[in-house]
Amino acid sequence: MIVDIINKKRLGEELSYKELDTFFNGYLEGKVKDYQMAALLMAICIKGMTEEEVFALTKIFIDSGDILDFDELGVLVDKHSTGGIGDKVTLIIAPIVAACGCPVVKFSGRGLGYTGGTIDKLESIGGFRTDLSDEEIYEQIKKIGIVITGQTKDIVPMDKVIYALRDVTGTVSSVPLIASSIMSKKIAGGADKILIDVKVGKGALIDNEKEALELCDLMKKIGKIYHREVRTKISDMNVPLGYAIGNSLEVLEAMDILQGKEDNNCLVELCYDLASEMVSMSKGISKEEALKLVKEAVNKGYAYQKFLELVNSQGGSIEKISVSKKEKYIIADKSGIITNIDALELGKLSVMLGAGRSSKEDKIDYSVGIRLHYLVGEEVRKGDTLATIYVKSKVKLPKTKDIFEIKKKRTLKKNR
Ligand code: URA
Repeated sequence: MIVDIINKKRLGEELSYKELDTFFNGYLEGKVKDYQMAALLMAICIKGMTEEEVFALTKIFIDSGDILDFDELGVLVDKHSTGGIGDKVTLIIAPIVAACGCPVVKFSGRGLGYTGGTIDKLESIGGFRTDLSDEEIYEQIKKIGIVITGQTKDIVPMDKVIYALRDVTGTVSSVPLIASSIMSKKIAGGADKILIDVKVGKGALIDNEKEALELCDLMKKIGKIYHREVRTKISDMNVPLGYAIGNSLEVLEAMDILQGKEDNNCLVELCYDLASEMVSMSKGISKEEALKLVKEAVNKGYAYQKFLELVNSQGGSIEKISVSKKEKYIIADKSGIITNIDALELGKLSVMLGAGRSSKEDKIDYSVGIRLHYLVGEEVRKGDTLATIYVKSKVKLPKTKDIFEIKKKRTLKKNR
């Protein structure tokens, strides 16, 4: 009985493959109701899952749809981030890696909660198609070596429905559920080598290092079962990534980085690190050698060229990226050094502006968002503009101190 399975998990007991299969496939077939699935998901969030259960759930997810096979096209690398505020890393590193001669097929998702999604960002480029068919994916990879598209409806359809339910039932932040959701999509999507960027902090799905390490370990073990090389990286998500938050603004920032116009912030450092990890995996070379190729791809303009090829091939036009003309500002209320920028508060603000969704049905406004003018560690003076807010409608902005922590510069006492 369905309710017995929920009760078993509520008591912290291990579910068998058969029980998980009955429950999850029953949900896809409409035999298990939303409220029953929500109850089981919450029990999993609270009581956790054994490794055996996670392996079983991952298999059930993978088997719910098609498994793509790109073997003929060589070694395919994919990267996934657990999501963050201002996380436009995929837009930057996928073209870099492809420009280094490593084919990239990237199935991306939409924004979730306060975190943005690559598919929403790409759709801010007028005309850009994110619904490529399997045949189109295959053709484009052969032609230009890079594809970034939405999850096709036939790959892990189970994840689509469960994910939407998790989003609205407070059941996203669960290590076993995240591990099976991510890994099932990567494996069914045909990736041979997988790099996972696990974000940790206030603006991420996971807020502590212990769980982040557990997640990394679990995903590597799942990779082993399916003979996929999995590398993981834990990166900070207490402060936003880079200067821009919001769809069009993030694409524009990514384009600047690909053209080498911005080269000295932590976002660029993270991108170079992740891109060289992917190139190293794909080509079987050291990270140092890979980093040289990555820098060359950016400096010689190959990476930006690859980005333009991607946009062009998927029907987009960079002339059609629009940013709202209506601006508001967050002003420094004192002088000092910025010691923190609250990623979560900025995530909430961006959703309030319309850059993200509060419910599944919400339509995104690509043109709104936030552009920071300073990052953590920089000195500001009272009255400086800390951030420009691109708005469409009336919004009440948060107070400066709710987002920016500014500490007075310490002056050394003079010896008398
Ligand atoms: N990203 C995913 O694809 N799934 C999760 O559960 C969390 C982040």
